[in-house]
Order: sequence, then structure tokens, then C-alpha cells
Amino acid sequence: MKFQYSVEGGDFTMAGHASSQVKKSLKQLGIDSSIIKRVVVALYEAEVNIVAHAYRGVIDVDIESAGIKLKLTDEGPGIPDIEKAMTKGFSTASAAVREMGFGAGMGLPNIRDNSDRFTIDTVVNKGTVLSIEIDFK
Ligand SMILES: Nc1ncnc2c1ncn2[C@@H]1O[C@H](COP(=O)(O)OP(=O)(O)O)[C@@H](O)[C@H]1O
Ligand SMILES: [Mg+2]
Repeated sequence: MKFQYSVEGGDFTMAGHASSQVKKSLKQLGIDSSIIKRVVVALYEAEVNIVAHAYRGVIDVDIESAGIKLKLTDEGPGIPDIEKAMTKGFSTASAAVREMGFGAGMGLPNIRDNSDRFTIDTVVNKGTVLSIEIDFK
């Protein structure tokens, strides 16, 4: 089962759209709720990162019998230092973004901790591709 969603940078009203749609699909498929939780957290954080840090992006969702594959491709500033970005509490979020309750610097660490496989490919001034895979058992 494949789905695609687009995400606009700056549009926090839509942050969480893809993750709630995917949650519905996984529930219908009878996937274990502890696994659904991990998928929703990882996808939500990745969605929010496009909204908060990039200009726009596309989310490709591929649900297979063994697990789910998520690919988030954005056009944006890229991540100059991935190791730093992966550090708990590190954030470059603007004051305005923090006002809205985002920018705790826990997104990427949470994505890593909830994924079975997680990769970041990024090019500064071009964009970032996140690949997240979560197995169903
Ligand atoms: N898609 C992205 N494009 C550009 N920079 C990003 C992206 N995702 C994360 N980052 C960078 O990594 C940092 C840490 O991300 P994260 O752990 O999600 O924390 P937060 O989003 O709360 O700042 C961000 O502050 C930002 O500098
Ligand atoms: Mg984040």
C-alpha cells in the first residue's frame, strides 16, 4: 500500500496530517498498537521538521506485510552537522517556532529511537532525505 503526502514549510496547521492518516491505515490493518505508536511518533517528528525547518517536502509511505517504509524528501537548508542535530536538546528553531511549542530538540533523537532503520541524507542549501523503516514484529 503506497501513499504520498506533500508538506508546506511554515504550515503548522497541517503538521501531523500524514501521521494521523497512516495511524488510521495501520489500525485498519490490525497492526500492534505499540508499533503504531512508534510509527506515529517518528513520522510526526519528521513531518514537523519539514514544516519547521524546510521550505516544502514530500512524504512517501510504503506499507508492506513486513513493515512500513517512510521517505521524507524536502527542499530546504539541509543539515550542516548531522551529529550535532542528532544530539538531544539541540535545536535551531526560531523564537516564533518555540512560541508554538516546537523546537525542543528531541525530534531526530526520537525518530532514531523509534525506528528499526533510520538514515539521513542531506545537502546544505538543497535539502534533506530521511528514510525510516519500522518492522511489524
Ligand atoms: N528537515 C530538516 N531540514 C533542515 N534542518 C533540519 C531538518 N530536520 C532537523 N533539522 C535540524 O536539526 C535540528 C534538530 O532537529 P530536532 O531534533 O527535530 O529538533 P527541533 O526540531 O525541535 O529543533 C533542528 O533544530 C534543525 O537545525
Ligand atoms: Mg523537530
